[in-house]
Amino acid sequence: VGAVRVTVALGARSYDVVIGPGVRGELSELVSGRAPNARLAAIVTTDNLVSQPWFDLDVGVMTELVIVPDGEAAKNLSVVESTCRHFARSGLSRRDVVVAVGGGSITDVAGFAAATYERGVAVVHVATTLLGQVDAAIGGKTGVNLPEGKNLVGAFHQPIGVLCDTETLATLPDAERRSGLGEIAKCWLLLRHPSSDLPGVSDEALVEMAAVFKARTVEGDEREQGRRALLNYGHTLAHALESQQSAGGSFQLRHGEAVAIGVAFAARLARRLGRIGDHAVAEHDAVLDFFALPKDLPTGVDRGALLAAMARDKKAHHNLTFVLADHDGFSVVADVPQEAVELELGLLEGQR
Ligand SMILES: NC(=O)c1ccc[n+]([C@@H]2O[C@H](COP(=O)([O-])OP(=O)(O)OC[C@H]3O[C@@H](n4cnc5c(N)ncnc54)[C@H](O)[C@@H]3O)[C@@H](O)[C@H]2O)c1
Repeated sequence: VGAVRVTVALGARSYDVVIGPGVRGELSELVSGRAPNARLAAIVTTDNLVSQPWFDLDVGVMTELVIVPDGEAAKNLSVVESTCRHFARSGLSRRDVVVAVGGGSITDVAGFAAATYERGVAVVHVATTLLGQVDAAIGGKTGVNLPEGKNLVGAFHQPIGVLCDTETLATLPDAERRSGLGEIAKCWLLLRHPSSDLPGVSDEALVEMAAVFKARTVEGDEREQGRRALLNYGHTLAHALESQQSAGGSFQLRHGEAVAIGVAFAARLARRLGRIGDHAVAEHDAVLDFFALPKDLPTGVDRGALLAAMARDKKAHHNLTFVLADHDGFSVVADVPQEAVELELGLLEGQR
């Protein structure tokens, strides 16, 4: 299988996303091409990833390994501080390069450190989770969490290149895989591909479809003013579920699973509002079922708290805003009537 190369066309900030088995082997060529004056590369990653069989990266310049905590724990300001201090001690300068190796947690924190260290140094993302390859590594959004909420501090900082090596996915735990599949299912639905086409599609082709979709959407709307907001399909409820979970909720959902539930919910809400019919809802369910993703609210969820959290959603400039389908596409719909949301929340099964 060959590699697929997608250019994210953003004028002077354009870069390629390369998808395929073994594409991590292109790292040194990418760095010498896009950061020709670099003498040092700071590789930001975790202990878990360094010990994986595919961790054999050749950057072509001197490297400094910067180890950060694994998973979401990496995404806080103290890790940004320790990472930037590590950059400074190793003599990293503006002409040098940061190489983020990992999933969305790593590309978010390393990307943010790169955005701010010396007011901006080049970053390459080597995405190693399904979610990272189809979503987090593409588009230049970086950031970390605060105790008050997720992704509250961040910056737009486009990478100089993204390598999505599908060989690295062989070691990915199942739960992480499901998380990426949630975003892939969302893209499939946003593209309005029929569910009946799914059985013939390879994993590689799914990663490619979703990565291309993200790249094209970002191009049209780099700063997330318009079209890019459609990528938040399913995310109003997903964010509410995630904030309840992190506040001590009794359920355990990965991001993509929360998105899947959010997408199933958004389809039903759109039907209740007369925007789509039963067939479109059935299509949503068939796509989610194909990927074995959940559609129902988890047991023990507090529906009232979900409603309150959705009204507070960061992207909700108006009360209760959702991305909703209609007969010929998707749009951001503000001021969705609260009774409709309440009714649908009450109807979704409360068990898994
Ligand atoms: N910037 C964006 O546009 C954007 C978009 C979507 C999500 N995100 C962020 O991404 C984060 C989630 O990222 P994620 O789902 O990729 O998870 P993650 O980066 O937290 O990684 C999850 C786990 O998988 C392990 N792992 C990663 N690659 C592996 C591999 N190839 N083999 C074995 N183990 C591997 C990691 O060590 C970690 O334990 C969230 O914080 C979310 O906010 C950002």
